[in-house]
Amino acid sequence: MSNTAHKLRTHNLRKTYGPVVALAEASIEMAEGEFLTLLGPSGSGKTTMLMAIAGLNEPDSGDIWIDGKLATYLPPFRRDIGMVFQNYALFPHMTIFENIAFPLKMRKMDEASIRNNVGRVLETVKLSDVANRLPKELSGGQQQRIALARAFVYEPSIILMDEPLGALDKKLRDHLQLEIKHLHEQLAITVLYVTHDQEEAMVMSDRICLMNDAQIEQIGTPDDLYFRPESEFTADFLGESNLIEGTVKETNDTATIVSGPDGAILAGLPNPGLKEGDACKLMVRPECVSIITSDARADNILSATLVETIITGTVTKSYAVLPGGNEMKCTQLTNGPLNGARKDQTVKLGWMREHTVVLSPEEGSMS
Ligand SMILES: Nc1ncnc2c1ncn2[C@@H]1O[C@H](COP(=O)(O)OP(=O)(O)O)[C@@H](O)[C@H]1O
Ligand SMILES: [Mg+2]
Repeated sequence: MSNTAHKLRTHNLRKTYGPVVALAEASIEMAEGEFLTLLGPSGSGKTTMLMAIAGLNEPDSGDIWIDGKLATYLPPFRRDIGMVFQNYALFPHMTIFENIAFPLKMRKMDEASIRNNVGRVLETVKLSDVANRLPKELSGGQQQRIALARAFVYEPSIILMDEPLGALDKKLRDHLQLEIKHLHEQLAITVLYVTHDQEEAMVMSDRICLMNDAQIEQIGTPDDLYFRPESEFTADFLGESNLIEGTVKETNDTATIVSGPDGAILAGLPNPGLKEGDACKLMVRPECVSIITSDARADNILSATLVETIITGTVTKSYAVLPGGNEMKCTQLTNGPLNGARKDQTVKLGWMREHTVVLSPEEGSMS
Protein backbone atom coordinates (compact mmCIF):
# COMPACT_ATOMS: atom_id res chain seq x y z
CA MET A 1 0.00 0.00 0.00
CA SER A 2 1.21 3.51 -0.74
CA ASN A 3 2.62 5.43 2.22
CA THR A 4 1.59 8.82 0.91
CA ALA A 5 -2.14 8.16 1.23
CA HIS A 6 -1.87 8.18 5.02
CA LYS A 7 -1.21 10.92 7.54
CA LEU A 8 0.49 8.34 9.71
CA ARG A 9 1.45 4.77 9.12
CA THR A 10 3.36 2.30 11.26
CA HIS A 11 4.44 -1.06 9.97
CA ASN A 12 5.37 -3.95 12.29
CA LEU A 13 6.65 -1.70 15.07
CA ARG A 14 8.38 -3.76 17.73
CA LYS A 15 9.89 -2.64 21.03
CA THR A 16 11.36 -4.75 23.80
CA TYR A 17 12.80 -3.85 27.20
CA GLY A 18 15.11 -6.75 28.04
CA PRO A 19 12.86 -9.81 28.17
CA VAL A 20 9.66 -7.70 28.13
CA VAL A 21 7.95 -7.34 24.77
CA ALA A 22 6.26 -3.93 25.11
CA LEU A 23 5.03 -3.74 21.52
CA ALA A 24 4.84 -6.59 19.00
CA GLU A 25 4.58 -5.98 15.27
CA ALA A 26 2.07 -3.13 15.55
CA SER A 27 0.75 -1.75 12.27
CA ILE A 28 -1.71 1.14 12.10
CA GLU A 29 -2.78 3.60 9.44
CA MET A 30 -4.39 6.98 10.04
CA ALA A 31 -6.18 9.16 7.53
CA GLU A 32 -5.79 12.94 7.55
CA GLY A 33 -8.09 14.51 10.14
CA GLU A 34 -8.87 11.21 11.82
CA PHE A 35 -9.31 10.72 15.57
CA LEU A 36 -7.83 7.31 16.43
CA THR A 37 -7.65 6.01 19.99
CA LEU A 38 -5.27 3.40 21.35
CA LEU A 39 -7.37 1.68 23.98
CA GLY A 40 -6.26 -1.11 26.27
CA PRO A 41 -5.49 -2.19 29.81
CA SER A 42 -2.49 -0.85 31.70
CA GLY A 43 0.77 -2.31 30.35
CA SER A 44 -0.67 -3.23 26.93
CA GLY A 45 1.84 -1.07 25.04
CA LYS A 46 -0.12 2.13 24.34
CA THR A 47 2.46 4.57 25.66
CA THR A 48 5.28 2.61 24.02
CA MET A 49 3.55 2.99 20.64
CA LEU A 50 2.94 6.72 21.16
CA MET A 51 6.55 7.36 22.24
CA ALA A 52 7.90 5.55 19.17
CA ILE A 53 5.71 7.71 16.93
CA ALA A 54 6.84 10.85 18.77
CA GLY A 55 10.49 9.81 18.40
CA LEU A 56 10.96 9.58 22.17
CA ASN A 57 11.88 5.90 22.05
CA GLU A 58 13.49 3.95 19.24
CA PRO A 59 11.75 0.80 18.02
CA ASP A 60 13.77 -2.44 17.73
CA SER A 61 12.30 -2.94 14.27
CA GLY A 62 9.51 -1.75 12.03
CA ASP A 63 8.90 1.62 10.43
CA ILE A 64 6.96 4.87 10.84
CA TRP A 65 5.83 7.21 8.07
CA ILE A 66 4.42 10.67 8.72
CA ASP A 67 2.90 12.49 5.75
CA GLY A 68 4.37 9.82 3.51
CA LYS A 69 7.93 10.41 4.71
CA LEU A 70 9.93 7.76 6.52
CA ALA A 71 10.27 9.04 10.09
CA THR A 72 11.41 5.98 12.07
CA TYR A 73 14.74 7.55 13.06
CA LEU A 74 13.96 11.27 12.72
CA PRO A 75 14.59 13.31 15.87
CA PRO A 76 11.35 14.34 17.65
CA PHE A 77 11.55 18.03 16.70
CA ARG A 78 11.60 17.16 13.01
CA ARG A 79 8.32 15.20 13.12
CA ASP A 80 5.83 18.10 13.34
CA ILE A 81 4.01 16.41 16.20
CA GLY A 82 2.27 18.03 19.19
CA MET A 83 1.95 16.20 22.49
CA VAL A 84 -0.31 16.39 25.53
CA PHE A 85 0.36 14.16 28.54
CA GLN A 86 -1.54 13.47 31.74
CA ASN A 87 0.75 15.78 33.68
CA TYR A 88 1.78 18.20 31.02
CA ALA A 89 3.69 20.80 33.04
CA LEU A 90 3.08 24.32 31.77
CA PHE A 91 6.07 26.62 32.20
CA PRO A 92 5.37 27.88 35.76
CA HIS A 93 7.02 31.28 35.45
CA MET A 94 5.28 32.21 32.18
CA THR A 95 1.77 33.61 31.90
CA ILE A 96 -0.90 31.58 30.13
CA PHE A 97 -0.50 33.81 27.07
CA GLU A 98 3.28 33.25 27.03
CA ASN A 99 2.85 29.51 27.52
CA ILE A 100 0.64 29.20 24.46
CA ALA A 101 2.73 31.66 22.46
CA PHE A 102 5.90 29.66 23.17
CA PRO A 103 5.69 27.15 20.28
CA LEU A 104 4.84 30.00 17.89
CA LYS A 105 7.83 32.08 19.07
CA MET A 106 10.05 29.03 18.58
CA ARG A 107 8.78 28.95 15.00
CA LYS A 108 9.59 32.69 14.61
CA MET A 109 6.02 33.80 13.94
CA ASP A 110 5.54 37.60 13.97
CA GLU A 111 4.02 39.31 17.05
CA ALA A 112 0.67 40.22 15.48
CA SER A 113 0.04 36.69 14.19
CA ILE A 114 1.05 35.27 17.58
CA ARG A 115 -1.50 37.53 19.33
CA ASN A 116 -4.17 36.45 16.85
CA ASN A 117 -3.50 32.75 17.11
CA VAL A 118 -3.20 32.67 20.90
CA GLY A 119 -6.40 34.71 21.18
CA ARG A 120 -8.21 32.32 18.89
CA VAL A 121 -7.27 29.11 20.75
CA LEU A 122 -7.93 30.75 24.14
CA GLU A 123 -11.41 31.52 22.88
CA THR A 124 -11.82 27.93 21.66
CA VAL A 125 -11.00 26.52 25.10
CA LYS A 126 -13.12 29.30 26.68
CA LEU A 127 -10.31 30.73 28.79
CA SER A 128 -9.71 34.16 27.20
CA ASP A 129 -10.02 35.84 30.58
CA VAL A 130 -7.02 34.05 32.14
CA ALA A 131 -4.41 35.06 29.54
CA ASN A 132 -2.38 37.12 32.02
CA ARG A 133 -2.46 34.67 34.91
CA LEU A 134 0.24 32.21 35.91
CA PRO A 135 -0.48 28.44 35.66
CA LYS A 136 -0.62 28.05 39.46
CA GLU A 137 -3.54 30.48 39.50
CA LEU A 138 -5.66 28.02 37.45
CA SER A 139 -7.43 24.82 38.45
CA GLY A 140 -6.15 21.44 37.21
CA GLY A 141 -8.83 21.27 34.55
CA GLN A 142 -8.05 24.79 33.32
CA GLN A 143 -4.33 23.99 33.17
CA GLN A 144 -5.05 20.92 31.07
CA ARG A 145 -7.16 23.00 28.68
CA ILE A 146 -4.22 25.39 28.34
CA ALA A 147 -1.95 22.41 27.61
CA LEU A 148 -4.40 21.41 24.88
CA ALA A 149 -4.48 24.95 23.51
CA ARG A 150 -0.68 24.99 23.40
CA ALA A 151 -0.62 21.71 21.44
CA PHE A 152 -3.30 22.85 19.00
CA VAL A 153 -2.04 26.43 18.45
CA TYR A 154 0.71 25.73 15.92
CA GLU A 155 -1.39 23.21 14.02
CA PRO A 156 1.04 20.33 14.01
CA SER A 157 0.54 17.55 11.53
CA ILE A 158 -0.55 15.16 14.27
CA ILE A 159 -1.36 15.60 17.95
CA LEU A 160 -0.54 12.72 20.30
CA MET A 161 -2.33 12.63 23.65
CA ASP A 162 -1.47 10.14 26.39
CA GLU A 163 -4.30 9.86 28.93
CA PRO A 164 -4.62 13.66 29.02
CA LEU A 165 -7.73 13.56 31.23
CA GLY A 166 -6.50 10.80 33.54
CA ALA A 167 -5.87 13.07 36.52
CA LEU A 168 -9.20 14.91 36.40
CA ASP A 169 -12.44 14.10 38.18
CA LYS A 170 -15.27 12.43 36.28
CA LYS A 171 -17.41 15.51 35.63
CA LEU A 172 -14.53 17.56 34.28
CA ARG A 173 -13.36 14.59 32.23
CA ASP A 174 -16.78 14.24 30.58
CA HIS A 175 -16.76 17.94 29.77
CA LEU A 176 -13.23 17.96 28.36
CA GLN A 177 -13.89 14.85 26.28
CA LEU A 178 -16.48 16.81 24.36
CA GLU A 179 -14.25 19.88 24.24
CA ILE A 180 -11.36 17.92 22.71
CA LYS A 181 -13.76 16.32 20.25
CA HIS A 182 -15.03 19.76 19.20
CA LEU A 183 -11.49 21.18 18.93
CA HIS A 184 -10.61 18.26 16.71
CA GLU A 185 -13.64 18.87 14.50
CA GLN A 186 -13.11 22.64 14.26
CA LEU A 187 -9.40 22.51 13.55
CA ALA A 188 -9.48 19.31 11.47
CA ILE A 189 -6.28 18.05 13.08
CA THR A 190 -5.25 14.39 13.12
CA VAL A 191 -5.32 13.08 16.70
CA LEU A 192 -3.83 9.88 18.10
CA TYR A 193 -5.25 9.52 21.59
CA VAL A 194 -4.47 7.05 24.38
CA THR A 195 -6.84 5.93 27.11
CA HIS A 196 -7.63 2.83 29.16
CA ASP A 197 -11.25 4.00 29.54
CA GLN A 198 -13.56 2.28 27.03
CA GLU A 199 -16.31 4.85 27.44
CA GLU A 200 -13.92 7.72 26.73
CA ALA A 201 -12.70 5.90 23.62
CA MET A 202 -16.28 5.28 22.45
CA VAL A 203 -17.28 8.93 22.95
CA MET A 204 -14.33 10.51 21.22
CA SER A 205 -13.00 8.31 18.46
CA ASP A 206 -13.56 7.86 14.75
CA ARG A 207 -11.80 4.53 15.17
CA ILE A 208 -10.41 2.58 18.09
CA CYS A 209 -7.28 0.41 18.07
CA LEU A 210 -7.69 -2.05 20.92
CA MET A 211 -4.39 -3.25 22.42
CA ASN A 212 -3.90 -6.45 24.39
CA ASP A 213 -0.56 -7.57 25.77
CA ALA A 214 1.66 -5.64 23.30
CA GLN A 215 -0.48 -6.64 20.31
CA ILE A 216 -3.26 -5.01 18.35
CA GLU A 217 -6.40 -6.99 19.12
CA GLN A 218 -8.81 -5.23 16.75
CA ILE A 219 -9.09 -1.90 14.90
CA GLY A 220 -12.44 -0.43 13.88
CA THR A 221 -15.14 2.12 14.55
CA PRO A 222 -16.64 2.19 18.06
CA ASP A 223 -19.70 0.49 16.51
CA ASP A 224 -17.56 -2.26 14.97
CA LEU A 225 -15.80 -3.05 18.21
CA TYR A 226 -18.97 -2.93 20.27
CA PHE A 227 -21.32 -4.83 17.99
CA ARG A 228 -18.83 -6.84 15.90
CA PRO A 229 -16.07 -7.89 18.30
CA GLU A 230 -13.79 -10.53 16.85
CA SER A 231 -12.71 -11.97 20.19
CA GLU A 232 -13.90 -12.44 23.74
CA PHE A 233 -11.25 -9.96 24.84
CA THR A 234 -12.79 -7.23 22.66
CA ALA A 235 -16.34 -8.12 23.68
CA ASP A 236 -15.33 -7.97 27.33
CA PHE A 237 -13.24 -4.84 27.21
CA LEU A 238 -15.84 -2.75 25.43
CA GLY A 239 -18.70 -3.43 27.83
CA GLU A 240 -20.86 -6.15 29.26
CA SER A 241 -21.53 -9.25 27.25
CA ASN A 242 -23.35 -12.57 27.36
CA LEU A 243 -21.39 -15.56 26.09
CA ILE A 244 -23.23 -18.74 25.19
CA GLU A 245 -21.36 -21.91 24.23
CA GLY A 246 -22.47 -23.87 21.21
CA THR A 247 -21.57 -25.91 18.14
CA VAL A 248 -21.85 -24.69 14.55
CA LYS A 249 -24.61 -26.50 12.66
CA GLU A 250 -24.58 -24.54 9.45
CA THR A 251 -22.90 -21.49 7.93
CA ASN A 252 -23.97 -19.35 4.99
CA ASP A 253 -23.62 -15.78 3.69
CA THR A 254 -26.27 -14.34 5.98
CA ALA A 255 -26.08 -16.35 9.17
CA THR A 256 -24.31 -18.85 11.37
CA ILE A 257 -26.70 -21.42 12.80
CA VAL A 258 -25.61 -22.80 16.14
CA SER A 259 -26.83 -25.55 18.41
CA GLY A 260 -26.83 -24.05 21.91
CA PRO A 261 -27.80 -25.04 25.45
CA ASP A 262 -30.43 -27.77 25.69
CA GLY A 263 -30.24 -28.26 21.91
CA ALA A 264 -31.76 -24.83 21.20
CA ILE A 265 -31.14 -23.62 17.66
CA LEU A 266 -29.71 -20.08 17.64
CA ALA A 267 -28.80 -17.76 14.77
CA GLY A 268 -25.95 -15.28 14.61
CA LEU A 269 -24.04 -13.16 12.11
CA PRO A 270 -21.79 -14.87 9.56
CA ASN A 271 -18.24 -15.75 10.57
CA PRO A 272 -16.15 -16.97 7.63
CA GLY A 273 -13.65 -18.51 10.06
CA LEU A 274 -16.12 -21.14 11.24
CA LYS A 275 -17.36 -24.36 9.68
CA GLU A 276 -19.88 -27.03 10.58
CA GLY A 277 -19.00 -28.91 13.74
CA ASP A 278 -16.75 -26.17 15.19
CA ALA A 279 -17.11 -25.17 18.82
CA CYS A 280 -18.06 -21.49 19.12
CA LYS A 281 -19.42 -18.86 21.46
CA LEU A 282 -22.35 -16.60 20.78
CA MET A 283 -21.99 -13.06 22.09
CA VAL A 284 -24.96 -10.77 22.64
CA ARG A 285 -25.03 -7.48 24.58
CA PRO A 286 -27.31 -7.40 27.65
CA GLU A 287 -29.28 -4.45 26.26
CA CYS A 288 -30.18 -6.53 23.17
CA VAL A 289 -31.78 -9.29 25.27
CA SER A 290 -35.36 -8.99 26.54
CA ILE A 291 -37.53 -11.08 28.81
CA ILE A 292 -40.28 -11.87 26.33
CA THR A 293 -43.83 -13.08 26.40
CA SER A 294 -44.78 -16.10 24.33
CA ASP A 295 -46.11 -14.14 21.35
CA ALA A 296 -43.13 -11.77 21.00
CA ARG A 297 -40.96 -11.99 17.88
CA ALA A 298 -37.33 -12.97 18.38
CA ASP A 299 -34.85 -14.93 16.27
CA ASN A 300 -33.29 -16.52 19.31
CA ILE A 301 -35.22 -17.72 22.34
CA LEU A 302 -33.88 -19.52 25.41
CA SER A 303 -35.62 -20.58 28.59
CA ALA A 304 -33.83 -19.46 31.74
CA THR A 305 -34.34 -19.24 35.47
CA LEU A 306 -34.49 -15.73 36.85
CA VAL A 307 -31.98 -15.09 39.63
CA GLU A 308 -32.44 -11.43 40.33
CA THR A 309 -33.98 -8.26 38.91
CA ILE A 310 -32.71 -4.86 40.00
CA ILE A 311 -33.94 -1.40 39.11
CA THR A 312 -30.79 0.77 39.01
CA GLY A 313 -32.62 3.90 37.90
CA THR A 314 -32.77 4.45 34.16
CA VAL A 315 -32.25 0.76 33.48
CA THR A 316 -33.51 -2.46 34.98
CA LYS A 317 -31.03 -5.34 35.08
CA SER A 318 -32.08 -8.97 35.19
CA TYR A 319 -29.81 -11.93 35.82
CA ALA A 320 -30.87 -15.41 34.76
CA VAL A 321 -29.26 -18.84 34.51
CA LEU A 322 -29.45 -21.08 31.44
CA PRO A 323 -29.80 -24.84 31.60
CA GLY A 324 -26.15 -25.90 31.95
CA GLY A 325 -25.30 -23.02 34.26
CA ASN A 326 -24.30 -20.12 32.00
CA GLU A 327 -25.44 -16.77 33.36
CA MET A 328 -27.32 -14.30 31.15
CA LYS A 329 -27.61 -10.57 31.77
CA CYS A 330 -30.46 -8.55 30.37
CA THR A 331 -30.58 -4.76 30.61
CA GLN A 332 -33.68 -2.81 29.62
CA LEU A 333 -34.93 0.73 30.11
CA THR A 334 -36.98 0.88 33.29
CA ASN A 335 -40.62 1.11 32.30
CA GLY A 336 -42.21 0.99 35.73
CA PRO A 337 -42.08 -1.01 38.94
CA LEU A 338 -40.90 -4.63 38.66
CA ASN A 339 -43.77 -6.22 36.79
CA GLY A 340 -44.12 -9.36 38.81
CA ALA A 341 -40.64 -10.73 38.05
CA ARG A 342 -39.81 -13.26 40.78
CA LYS A 343 -36.67 -15.11 41.75
CA ASP A 344 -36.68 -18.72 40.47
CA GLN A 345 -39.37 -17.90 37.89
CA THR A 346 -38.83 -19.52 34.49
CA VAL A 347 -38.65 -16.86 31.79
CA LYS A 348 -38.00 -16.72 28.08
CA LEU A 349 -35.09 -14.57 26.89
CA GLY A 350 -35.30 -13.34 23.34
CA TRP A 351 -33.02 -11.41 20.98
CA MET A 352 -32.30 -10.92 17.31
CA ARG A 353 -29.85 -12.59 14.96
CA GLU A 354 -28.30 -9.28 13.90
CA HIS A 355 -27.27 -8.60 17.51
CA THR A 356 -25.55 -11.97 17.82
CA VAL A 357 -21.84 -12.34 17.06
CA VAL A 358 -20.47 -15.85 16.66
CA LEU A 359 -16.91 -16.01 17.99
CA SER A 360 -14.31 -18.61 17.15
CA PRO A 361 -12.83 -20.25 20.24
CA GLU A 362 -9.90 -18.25 21.64
CA GLU A 363 -6.51 -19.60 20.66
CA GLY A 364 -5.20 -21.84 23.41
CA SER A 365 -8.54 -22.05 25.19
CA MET A 366 -9.68 -25.25 23.47
CA SER A 367 -7.83 -28.50 23.87
N1 LIG B 1 11.26 2.03 30.17
C1 LIG B 1 10.80 0.79 30.37
N2 LIG B 1 11.59 -0.19 30.87
C2 LIG B 1 11.14 -1.45 31.03
N3 LIG B 1 9.88 -1.85 30.74
C3 LIG B 1 9.05 -0.92 30.25
C4 LIG B 1 9.45 0.44 30.03
N4 LIG B 1 8.39 1.12 29.52
C5 LIG B 1 7.39 0.22 29.43
N5 LIG B 1 7.76 -0.99 29.85
C6 LIG B 1 6.93 -2.20 29.84
O1 LIG B 1 6.36 -2.35 28.57
C7 LIG B 1 5.01 -2.77 28.64
C8 LIG B 1 4.09 -1.76 27.96
O2 LIG B 1 4.13 -0.55 28.69
P1 LIG B 1 3.34 0.77 28.27
O3 LIG B 1 3.57 1.01 26.83
O4 LIG B 1 3.74 1.84 29.20
O5 LIG B 1 1.83 0.33 28.51
P2 LIG B 1 0.50 1.23 28.62
O6 LIG B 1 0.82 2.62 28.21
O7 LIG B 1 -0.48 0.54 27.74
O8 LIG B 1 0.08 1.14 30.06
C9 LIG B 1 4.73 -2.97 30.12
O9 LIG B 1 4.92 -4.32 30.43
C10 LIG B 1 5.77 -2.10 30.79
O10 LIG B 1 6.06 -2.57 32.08
MG1 LIG C 1 0.60 4.42 29.31
